[in-house]
Amino acid sequence: MQYATELEATIHDMVQKGRGILAADESAPTIAKRFQAIEVESTEENRRAWRSLLVTTEGLGQYISGIILFEETLGQKTDAGKTIPEAAWAQHIVPGIKVDKGKIPLALSPGDLITQGLDGLAERLRGYKQQGARFAKWREVYAIDRHVPSQHGIEANAEMLARYAAVCQEEGLVPIVEPEVLMDGDHDIDRHAEVTEAVQHAVFHALHRHHVALELMILKPNMVLPGKDCRRAEPDEVAAATLKILRRTVPAAVPSINFLSGGQGPEEATANLNAINQQGANAPWNLSISYGRALQKTALQAWMGKVDNIPAAQQALLKRARLNSAAQLGEYNPDMEASDN
Ligand code: 13P
Repeated sequence: MQYATELEATIHDMVQKGRGILAADESAPTIAKRFQAIEVESTEENRRAWRSLLVTTEGLGQYISGIILFEETLGQKTDAGKTIPEAAWAQHIVPGIKVDKGKIPLALSPGDLITQGLDGLAERLRGYKQQGARFAKWREVYAIDRHVPSQHGIEANAEMLARYAAVCQEEGLVPIVEPEVLMDGDHDIDRHAEVTEAVQHAVFHALHRHHVALELMILKPNMVLPGKDCRRAEPDEVAAATLKILRRTVPAAVPSINFLSGGQGPEEATANLNAINQQGANAPWNLSISYGRALQKTALQAWMGKVDNIPAAQQALLKRARLNSAAQLGEYNPDMEASDN
């Protein structure tokens, strides 16, 4: 593989105990939804101001080793005039880029979804690399209902993830492979486990078929949880269910598993990660985060689009990053929520 050394260096910079990934790659409609909750208009300037705030949070690099950006952000500048990727790397946070073009219904498979964006991907990656991106992210989404995802849908999605990952490695960007089984619905934790297991099996079969080097990728899965409309589960139950499925499906060659938060509350996501690290102390992979909402939510609420609130917002972000870092060491305790400010 032409860029193996470069990919190894990126993995080294991203995978470190106590550090995780900040997902700040919301697409235009998604960031508009997040801003709407704090009554901020989603203009290009407001999006720039928000992402500049995140990446210039002093000390963030101690807990965060990578940041996933949206295409627009890659070319934007911080208030001090650095490009966002430069500002990230100034704190040893590796800049990366979401490269999929979002989900659509899978044709002739009612209820199944599929993600677009493979055409021209290699050329796009070369451009992103010139702008400073060293890794990429692609998300496939699986909704749970009685008859979905279908086996055919699961295989079609796995094929997309594997083809994307192969192109990334060929172009010298570390692929984050994200198969997200949604927590929407009233299914129980066993159903979420069953679907997650089938999805991960299919993904790793496809990665093998497409010659993807597992040592040079990062897996971004969902935790195994009961559906949002079912009930809440305690961290120990979530950790046991999640580790059981990952041990069955994810080869030890994968260096790091960085969970998405997927609609869990910030404290819930931290407590679950902590339990996963306590129970998974002997697991073969690093067990960390690639949270979007669970890292950004409290900071957004502190910001409210106002310049005067930037220090409070950065403090809120740093707090979540620090507590999630403790959770990666299995040293988080909910009492720390009140004492850590
Ligand atoms: P959440 O942690 O908010 O689920 O976002 C992670 C992400 O990048 C989804 O693609």
